[in-house]
Amino acid sequence: MSYQLLKGKRGIIFGALDENSIAWKTAERVHEEGGTFVLTNAPVALRMGQIDALAEKTGAKVIAADATNLYDLQELVEKSIEILGGKLDFVLHSIGMSVNVRKGRHYTDQKYDFTTKGWDVSAVSFHKLMQTLYQKEAMNAWGSIVGLTYMAAQRTFPDYNDMADNKAYLESIARSFGYFFGQKSQVRVNTISQSPTMTTAGKGVKGFDGFINYAEKMAPLGNASALDCANYTISLFSDLTKMVTMQNLFHDGGFSKVGVSQEVVDMFENH
Ligand SMILES: NC(=O)c1ccc[n+]([C@@H]2O[C@H](COP(=O)([O-])OP(=O)(O)OC[C@H]3O[C@@H](n4cnc5c(N)ncnc54)[C@H](O)[C@@H]3O)[C@@H](O)[C@H]2O)c1
Repeated sequence: MSYQLLKGKRGIIFGALDENSIAWKTAERVHEEGGTFVLTNAPVALRMGQIDALAEKTGAKVIAADATNLYDLQELVEKSIEILGGKLDFVLHSIGMSVNVRKGRHYTDQKYDFTTKGWDVSAVSFHKLMQTLYQKEAMNAWGSIVGLTYMAAQRTFPDYNDMADNKAYLESIARSFGYFFGQKSQVRVNTISQSPTMTTAGKGVKGFDGFINYAEKMAPLGNASALDCANYTISLFSDLTKMVTMQNLFHDGGFSKVGVSQEVVDMFENH
């Protein structure tokens, strides 16, 4: 269903790797809602992923950018404004990667150059992106910037590894930059704390099947899908949420507020 909530709005979408990606679904929904955008991902992801199919479907241009590289970000922002014909109204940061997770290093046995790399990609890149947008005055007033996070920033999930720390840092950057961006140019910055979702990044977490099924049984509404997340992001990009900023917004079917569900209690009852 389309409400044309983003008609006339321009933006950049980071992180669409394949059709399971949260950013992929978001790009499709932004297109349906009348927004125009540039798609971007790391050069290696552009080679391995299927972004061209998405670009064709949504009429978007694709620009390669490593989100940890300031030069790439500057080029991306400048070219996007040129291609789209004006300053930006929305930006989605949908990026995450832990080298420790990828290489199977336990949280208590991290290799710190892996830790630093994952932190740079998953958290500091959000600051680098916003600093680039801020210094170039690339955002229109009342624009909206969204980053994606997970509740492991607040509560411990053993297999989430150093991504938990990265997400805590990411959420803090959203608050801190949200202050300065709001004051300077009425730009909003929020993070969405999404349910576990079957994507390439999600499946990288050890024991993900158990994890996602558990969340499904705990949340009164069940897990939010990637499409649900895309829809929520549309609302944050729209003018209907103008006064929401510096928030970490749980989008998890209620999971984060439940102590235990009856379904889970029943599983532990002695019959
Ligand atoms: N899948 C889940 O369970 C879940 C839950 C909550 C939050 N999230 C978050 O949602 C976001 C999107 O992840 P997803 O689940 O759609 O998985 P995904 O694997 O489809 O997307 C992650 C993206 O990050 C990109 N990326 C990695 N390094 C990069 C770099 N240096 N520069 C630019 N891009 C880079 C990848 O190419 C990929 O497109 C991430 O921040 C993730 O942590 C995911």
